[in-house]
Amino acid sequence: MKIRKATPKDALAIKDMIEKLSKEGVSLHSGALKKQTAGWETVKSTAKIKKQMKSKKYIYFVAEKDKKIIGFITGELMRAPRTTEGFVSDIYVYPEYRKQAIGKKLMAEFARWTKSRNCNWMSLMVYTRNKKGKKFYERLGFDDVVEIMKKKI
Ligand SMILES: CC(C)(COP(=O)(O)OP(=O)(O)OC[C@H]1O[C@@H](n2cnc3c(N)ncnc32)[C@H](O)[C@@H]1OP(=O)(O)O)[C@@H](O)C(=O)NCCC(=O)NCCS
Repeated sequence: MKIRKATPKDALAIKDMIEKLSKEGVSLHSGALKKQTAGWETVKSTAKIKKQMKSKKYIYFVAEKDKKIIGFITGELMRAPRTTEGFVSDIYVYPEYRKQAIGKKLMAEFARWTKSRNCNWMSLMVYTRNKKGKKFYERLGFDDVVEIMKKKI
């Protein structure tokens, strides 16, 4: 398994993973929140993925095994009040490859990229109901900072 920077040829595989990630996220919710959480992922077309790949602000890495894409991470440099941070927008590993340290390696690669842009902080959002995702980030040393609450009005 290797982690490498994604190329435009990976755009379709990445789009498929974003769709799977979205479905897993939606399945955690019920009622009005189910509809509300659908499509939170910012990128929905291969054209947009390819456009972001050209920009210095965004980054995509993929995990590849036997020439098959088995996971990815994407994010961007984001201004925060005191710092510019490497913000992880999406990370996904196919279920059959989970718990093999692939997510951890994708996060490490993202951290290296963030540091290479002179930023010393990483941030991300995770659904409160995504207990597994939260455990994953906690294992990597992330702390809770903000809670977003929602209500349909
Ligand atoms: C979250 C996700 C990327 C983790 O990928 P992974 O390759 O399975 O994670 P790793 O094997 O690198 O695990 C890293 C650490 O997190 C822990 N961890 C991973 N999944 C976990 C789980 N479901 N429950 C508890 N701990 C977990 C591992 O035990 C490991 O800890 P260790 O280093 O102390 O052994 C993957 O489960 C996934 O794609 N989930 C669906 C999408 C998602 O929820 N994304 C995150 C929110 S957007």
